[in-house]
Amino acid sequence: MAAFGREVGREPFSRTVCGESILFWRTGDGRVTAMSDRCVHRRFPLSEPPSHLVGDTVVCGYHGFTYGADGVCVAVPGQTRIPRTARLRTYPVVEQDSFVWVFIGDPHSAATLPVPRAPWLDMAGWTTVSGMEPLAARASLLVDNLMDLSHETYLHGGYIGTPEVADTPITTEVDDAAGVVHVSRRMADAACPPFYAKSTGITGRITRWQDIEFTPPCLYTLHSRVAPVGVLPNADGTDPDAFHVEVVYAITPETESSTHDFWAVARDFALDDEQVSDFLRESNRTVVLQDVAALNVLERVLTGEPDGYQELSINIDTGGLAARKMIARLAAGAP
Ligand code: FES
Ligand SMILES: [Fe+2]
Repeated sequence: MAAFGREVGREPFSRTVCGESILFWRTGDGRVTAMSDRCVHRRFPLSEPPSHLVGDTVVCGYHGFTYGADGVCVAVPGQTRIPRTARLRTYPVVEQDSFVWVFIGDPHSAATLPVPRAPWLDMAGWTTVSGMEPLAARASLLVDNLMDLSHETYLHGGYIGTPEVADTPITTEVDDAAGVVHVSRRMADAACPPFYAKSTGITGRITRWQDIEFTPPCLYTLHSRVAPVGVLPNADGTDPDAFHVEVVYAITPETESSTHDFWAVARDFALDDEQVSDFLRESNRTVVLQDVAALNVLERVLTGEPDGYQELSINIDTGGLAARKMIARLAAGAP
């Protein structure tokens, strides 16, 4: 994931994804374009003023090379002949569920790979808050972090952690055909952390379900269900007395050692309540920043270690290890 749709408009916008500096802008009819952010002439960034858009072209702010939405150069200064090689690399791009996705690999493979969905973020009946925090650590550390929520008890105590999270065993399922890792933790009788007590108004203990779905390499969803103790979904699957929160992360490498930590929290209750929105936005941001602080430390520690250091894994790591395996297989080019 490269950006929230709201970040891309009629001003050139740049973000580095997997080490590539990419320029995003919207054409007059609202389509998002993605192309290299380096002018082919002397490599001035096209996102840097005084570079600017004119209609459906972007004009380099240094000497005026001008490019169309397809990245092809349409004008150069001082001559009518435009060099044949004057074109910017473009990237396949999809805007979906409020996210802008960009395909970094061989563009011919893009059409064969479905973009994973997070429909709640842009759906009637749900209200979403979202943001992005820069992480000075490799993306795999954030994958590990999110696949094992037992850390909520320790790192996020007083926000989303309670003792029951770390105490309750998980079940892990790997769906190789769908390319999804599932990790689930169901707490029948747990304390209600402030994140849910303040947003839902529940005062007593809760039944708390955490069902994770991770679609490597990037999209993570935590289906969170919270209800007063003992309240379960109906036999037909309806669940009117529970509160549902979809916590979505899109874990995007910026470089080998830095990551865009995109997050979103969608809820199916208190839809128009601005106070609940403000509270969830601030709380989730705080929680994300607690992870960021810990992972930034971890990145510095790991950088200083000799290669081949030994980790020790236990049951809670099953989901994270499955995710690593699936990502390694994708990186090796396997379907
Ligand atoms: S660097 Fe862009 S026109 Fe010269
Ligand atoms: Fe965390």
